[in-house]
Amino acid sequence: MTNAKNWSPSSWRAKPAKQLPEYPDEDAVRAVETRLASYPPLVFAGEARALKAELARVGEGNGFLLQGGDCAEAFAEHHPDGIRDFFRVFLQMAVVLTFGAASPVTKVGRIAGQFAKPRSSSVETQDGVELPSYRGDIVNDIAFTPEGRTPNPERMEMAFRQSAATLNLLRAFAQGGYANLDNVHTWMLGFVEDSPQGHRYRSLANRISETLDFMRACGIESKNTPQLQSTDLYTSHEALLLGYEQAFTRVDSLTGDYYDTSGHMIWIGDRTRQPDHAHVEYARGVKNPLGLKCGPSLSPDGLLELIDILNPQNEAGRMTLICRFGADKVMDHLPALIRAVEKEGRKVVWSCDPMHGNTVSVAGYKTRPFDRIMKEVQAFFAVHRAEGTHAGGIHIEMTGTNVTECTGGARPVTADTLSDRYHTHCDPRLNAEQAIELAFLMAENLQAEKKDRSARVAA
Ligand code: PEP
Ligand code: CO
Repeated sequence: MTNAKNWSPSSWRAKPAKQLPEYPDEDAVRAVETRLASYPPLVFAGEARALKAELARVGEGNGFLLQGGDCAEAFAEHHPDGIRDFFRVFLQMAVVLTFGAASPVTKVGRIAGQFAKPRSSSVETQDGVELPSYRGDIVNDIAFTPEGRTPNPERMEMAFRQSAATLNLLRAFAQGGYANLDNVHTWMLGFVEDSPQGHRYRSLANRISETLDFMRACGIESKNTPQLQSTDLYTSHEALLLGYEQAFTRVDSLTGDYYDTSGHMIWIGDRTRQPDHAHVEYARGVKNPLGLKCGPSLSPDGLLELIDILNPQNEAGRMTLICRFGADKVMDHLPALIRAVEKEGRKVVWSCDPMHGNTVSVAGYKTRPFDRIMKEVQAFFAVHRAEGTHAGGIHIEMTGTNVTECTGGARPVTADTLSDRYHTHCDPRLNAEQAIELAFLMAENLQAEKKDRSARVAA
């Protein structure tokens, strides 16, 4: 047992905490948390360890982390088709990266638990009426009414049940035949088929089919090769609602270590990463792989302090740094963080969240221009190439549905069409076409990084 010093699953309760809801009835909260603590875990410690081992490989420069999904999952949108469509686009992106960049891809969904949202203001005012802000379906309702906006602990139980059902379907999709590489052509969504990205994807899928035919002729095929038959999809969410996370904090019987069994990977948001506060306290004691959002206000020393607290043993695969500066700020912030981490020899995965630093308001909608998103990704790769470090991953808000939430893309969403299918409960997501376009851009950048590396080795 190597549990963190002076830590327990509830030690966060003695620390100042930001972004936690104020429930009207604390006894009711405790009652729900007690029930949750008796329910089955959603994931196993061994799975979280397997993910950590994959991330350790990514940190060494071998592989790429693809992390994405909804900004906020919603109770009203819990449809099997939505889950399947997300899974399809995610597989397509992974194939583009794996085949296009000859790089193993670790797939982590923002799904099956991504319900709690930090907000910039704790209240919202509409027509002179002030109510608590919406904090995600696990806390309150998006409907702007006093009942809707009052935090209700029963929602935690609903979120758990939805997470379990979602995860069950994801496991079936991943392991039950749907993800078999022989199906690479069938993952295309109808509305993407005739788009420029659809054509690009189809020609890549054709090349994969040819490769599979060749391998079959050599005796390697999905029937005898499990890697071609199925895939691993891990889950992740922001560990924001700490009472809920505590209820799923369980001791792993094999190692005696604590794991947060509500998801494989959890992350700390940009608003709750104060080193002496509750969210960092909670995360330091569980053994899951951790994400840490790194925004413009994080200094190199501040980052090293957090890494010391969260990963004192410098364990590989433990820390993923999710950088979200905004397209124009990457050059100002990222090089200094990379140099500090490299100088101290800290093992991390560098990932890029090109969404949260690029939010703007257009025609009354919160949106994100796709060219800013592409620009931030491009800058992230460029800085890593200049520093000789590995651009290890991407963290995006996306959906398989044909939404119009981020402006731009090859068949562009415009200010006028934003209202057509603007469905998100929180932040604007990439639609399937935009997500695939981004995957192609990343595959090109990964190839370039690889070439640089081979040239350095040869020199
Ligand atoms: C998020 O990932 O949805 C989020 C709120 O991000 P950040 O903490 O980086 O603002
Ligand atoms: Co978001």
